[in-house]
Amino acid sequence: MNEMILTTEQIIRSFPVAGGELTVLKGITLEIPKGSLVIIKGRSGSGKTTLLNILSALDPATSGEVLFRARKRTKKKPGGGAGKKAGAGGAGAGEGEMGESTEGLQENGTEEIRYSGLSDAQRDRLRRFHMGFVFQSVALVPIMSAYENVDFGLRTAGYQGERDPRIREVLAAVGLDQRMKHMPAQLSGGEQQRVAIARAIAHRPEIIFADEPTGALDTAAGLAVTQLFKDLTEKEGITIVMTTHDPGLMELGDVVYEIEDGMIQGMSS
Ligand SMILES: Nc1ncnc2c1ncn2[C@@H]1O[C@H](COP(=O)(O)OP(=O)(O)O)[C@@H](O)[C@H]1O
Ligand SMILES: [Mg+2]
Repeated sequence: MNEMILTTEQIIRSFPVAGGELTVLKGITLEIPKGSLVIIKGRSGSGKTTLLNILSALDPATSGEVLFRARKRTKKKPGGGAGKKAGAGGAGAGEGEMGESTEGLQENGTEEIRYSGLSDAQRDRLRRFHMGFVFQSVALVPIMSAYENVDFGLRTAGYQGERDPRIREVLAAVGLDQRMKHMPAQLSGGEQQRVAIARAIAHRPEIIFADEPTGALDTAAGLAVTQLFKDLTEKEGITIVMTTHDPGLMELGDVVYEIEDGMIQGMSS
């Protein structure tokens, strides 16, 4: 049986609206196997974005729990080895560890993280170091080349390794090694989305969340991006969770969850 990287238990999400409360997610329990492409499929308004925002620790659930088995990150000592300053309380530390506590560390090198117990700073670090993001509208910096966009992402994530070889590697992985110097405006929509994917995977996150990544692409480009995701799960061992309303992409998913009106209506794998 596959190891699960992310599991949820009875996620409920309600929003206050005029005259009461709107319950958008009505008890979502699901499992995301490590190294798989998981597709969350549903109509517009079914709750996909709300769910993805909770899975990626952007938005808290009203009730229920999310568990993430994150790779335990080892802290690199900066030069002199002075170690961590006392009294920092964990907030703002840039090395990628989840916090001061070593409780809950597993011997197999993963750390079980319960979202309900995280501080805002820990949520931020979880997102920045362990996760990558791809959106429907490609958010590349228009005045930066493909190469520079990926470089920018690596710097933002505080990547510790050598950047140049990693940038070339991920741009090659998305098939754009011949387009590294191109500016976004010189690339097609599908190619721009590939740059965004290269940027999302460059800092070696364990999981990518992609909210309707094919929504602005034509059918062929959308299929190609989904196929690329599938390849990346195999080649880079990364886990990818994507949402879509396009039934044509479902067969590429290792696991497909169908969501309807805030509930899981079907699961296939
Ligand atoms: N912050 C919010 N306040 C009130 N209603 C919301 C909020 N966010 C989402 N919703 C509602 O929740 C439902 C699901 O939205 P969403 O998760 O964006 O669906 P999808 O991504 O599947 O199109 C919609 O009816 C939407 O209007
Ligand atoms: Mg949405």
